[in-house]
Amino acid sequence: MDYKGLYVHIPFCDSICSYCAFSKVLKNYSNVENYLHTLEDEIKFKNADKYTYDSIFIGGGTPTCLNIDNLEYLLQIISTFNRTPDCEYTIESNPENLTFEKCLLLKKYGVNRVSIGVQSFDLEKLKFLNRTHNFEIVYNGVNNVKKVGIHNINMDFIYGCENDSIELLRKDIQKAIKFDVTHMSFYCLEIENGTVLYNKNCKVDDDFAASLYQKLLFELQRKNFYRYEISNFSKENKFCSKHNLKYWKFTDYIGIGLSACSFVDHCFIENTKNLTKYLNKNYIAFENKLSLDEEKNVFLQQNLRLEKGFKLKTYRERFNSDFLEDYKDKIDIIKNSLVISRTEDVYIKSSMLYIMDNILVDLLH
Ligand SMILES: C[S@@+](CC[C@H](N)C(=O)[O-])C[C@H]1O[C@@H](n2cnc3c(N)ncnc32)[C@H](O)[C@@H]1O
Ligand code: SF4
Repeated sequence: MDYKGLYVHIPFCDSICSYCAFSKVLKNYSNVENYLHTLEDEIKFKNADKYTYDSIFIGGGTPTCLNIDNLEYLLQIISTFNRTPDCEYTIESNPENLTFEKCLLLKKYGVNRVSIGVQSFDLEKLKFLNRTHNFEIVYNGVNNVKKVGIHNINMDFIYGCENDSIELLRKDIQKAIKFDVTHMSFYCLEIENGTVLYNKNCKVDDDFAASLYQKLLFELQRKNFYRYEISNFSKENKFCSKHNLKYWKFTDYIGIGLSACSFVDHCFIENTKNLTKYLNKNYIAFENKLSLDEEKNVFLQQNLRLEKGFKLKTYRERFNSDFLEDYKDKIDIIKNSLVISRTEDVYIKSSMLYIMDNILVDLLH
């Protein structure tokens, strides 16, 4: 049976970071209860509770910034969904919210993976990013997560900021490893329209970021963190994010909440990013049934982000045609970047994964 992934978006945050363009609002000025009731309504509207899920991801915004009653209400809503016994159940968090009481609640409702937005342990860098935590706060938060018995922990980091250096990133990696995390994500800082950094005209030097990436890749691999996607590193294969793999393998997932996306029955659905519209139950902003060619293109675009790429057999079974035949003219153009192994695996050469976007332009256009 084909199980689906569930994404639930909670847009509230205690403060707004200087770089963030995700769908989020300050919690103080928001009616959280109203939002949660609307989520319940959207679930009915989309019949999202008719499926069984083998991955659930509550993301944001900052789901853990909800007060304890609202957090419990959210977890209760999600507890009505059918889950497989091995369902990966992740919540995104900010370190300052990880109190023992909230962690106990997460455990009680079956959350078994916590993703913590650390970004860095360096105070100057945290200030630049407008993050309000420090090492001690992360330390206490991680301790609480572990005390309740959740040991599958991811930390998100950002690199490419003005005063970054490999020494600084190395220290961040060392600290994360001391916390015994199972997974780390390293995102290159993106300066997005409408953010504080954009308005301050901050820039990221692409060459500098690329050289930092190569060094941090080396450092992570030296510490036995295996890169399975451009920005994602896991301690062992079993700790790869099952949920994100659904996006990269382009299999079905259902998204609920502001700005959430779904892909189901070959149809791509994007929810509105406008909170007022969302609360008025105008959930969907965009819906597109993909043609076979479009779906093949997205399949490649997503799967080739993965270190292991995809199997020719998977492509054949899904599309009832042959990748080597479908893309034969284009494959020739990118033959120096693409590997097609004897075991029928298709992937971008490891050394070229970082510039995958450029390679895909040649393959898909
Ligand atoms: C959108 S946040 C949501 C979870 C949580 N509120 C947090 O801050 O971690 C998820 C992650 O996206 C990454 N992120 C968000 N905006 C980014 C940007 N402009 N550039 C790079 N990474 C970004 C950060 O690493 C962040 O931890
Ligand atoms: S990065 Fe996280 S905490 Fe910061 S504004 Fe975005 S969603 Fe909120």
